[in-house]
Amino acid sequence: MSSSILTKNNDKFFIEDVDVKSIIKKFPTPSYVYSKQKIIENFKNLEAAFKGVDHLICFAVKANSNLAILNILAKNGAGFDIVSGGELKRVVAAKGDVEKIVFSGVGKTSEEIKLAIEKNILAFNVESEDELSRIQEIANSLNKKASISIRVNPNVDAKTHPYISTGLKENKFGVSEESAFDLYKKAKLLDSIEIEGIDCHIGSQITDLKPFEDSIKKLIKLVDRLEEEGINIRHIDIGGGIGIRYDDEKTIDFNEYAKIISSQIKERKIKILLEPGRVITADAGVILTKVEYVKKTKDKNFAVIDAAMNDLMRPSLYGSFHKILNISNTTEGKNKFDIVGPICETGDFIGKDRLMSIEPDNILVIMDTGAYAMSMSSNYNSRPKLFELMIDKDKIYIIREKESFDDLIKGEKILPES
Ligand code: LLP
Repeated sequence: MSSSILTKNNDKFFIEDVDVKSIIKKFPTPSYVYSKQKIIENFKNLEAAFKGVDHLICFAVKANSNLAILNILAKNGAGFDIVSGGELKRVVAAKGDVEKIVFSGVGKTSEEIKLAIEKNILAFNVESEDELSRIQEIANSLNKKASISIRVNPNVDAKTHPYISTGLKENKFGVSEESAFDLYKKAKLLDSIEIEGIDCHIGSQITDLKPFEDSIKKLIKLVDRLEEEGINIRHIDIGGGIGIRYDDEKTIDFNEYAKIISSQIKERKIKILLEPGRVITADAGVILTKVEYVKKTKDKNFAVIDAAMNDLMRPSLYGSFHKILNISNTTEGKNKFDIVGPICETGDFIGKDRLMSIEPDNILVIMDTGAYAMSMSSNYNSRPKLFELMIDKDKIYIIREKESFDDLIKGEKILPES
């Protein structure tokens, strides 16, 4: 896993076979740039770990929902984990297989449920009793059956940032094992509900196998109890959450991960579903940005760049670390810099106290921004969303145009004169 998409050859930097300078010449910074080969490699590596085991990898669309990326994954056999009607429509627009979709999320609206039933998705990951009743009602009114899994909250500590931990009993997600047991018994009696699987997702950026092992064990226990009640579970969805190396974190070995999960399934006839997002696309993307100003004060040095917290919220939101490389030649010695954007907030930083050599007009590369970067971006400070570019060997494709001012004010109206 995880060799960087940025390579150096004779003092030039490349993404696949494209010189980064040539990208900037055609597409002014800032931009998101992805490597198609890296996305495929990540997906295939995870696939390979589950070789010989009945499984389906459902890419978590929220990590990166660009149509080109969804389409690449669909062509390689991926299913999708969605959390909204918008994401469902994206999968359809990207020519993904709707019958390989699982629908997670605590707040599915009636419209979203209706759309998903009409499209015949693989399963709803049901997060509450009220949601189960709502799905039953809607399926019934459509004269159709809806397939469901119950999302179990196994109360295991994923040991990750509290904002992205989801499997503790105080989190809003899923239901306890006991409630899940009761809900399955209830679901069995509902004529428009088809019991398909069992589900959990304990958090994101997990770098330790233990929480996964603890969760699968709890899920299997429940599967066996349900079996005794005559309730057959066809798949176990273990969720997403595999972390990557942003800095020097240890990472999860795909083969060990697959072994831990499949060894719990044993001879049971159960398919394994996964919902990875980050580990498929994060290290396949970078942000290219230019240094506008270097501002040195008595206490601090700032490199003011043309990208900002609206393009990459992770550092301001979670204090996340992303490597930042300077790919321009510099003559200055190294200094400690805060790498900041132009937004009028102190929280608008991408990196803090980085020992680097930086001069105005230098090109910086913000690493590992292929997941939860563009998909979490905003127009704050009326900043247009950036180009998204896909490198495929020696070619550059625009997979999302940069927003224009007209895009920015689309739908807004001034009040008529009164
Ligand atoms: N399945 C469900 C139900 C999820 O809620 C998530 C992520 C995933 C799968 C995919 O998890 P992954 O494999 O990507 O860890 N914005 C945060 C991450 C939030 C993750 C939310 N749920 C960040 O930038 O770190």
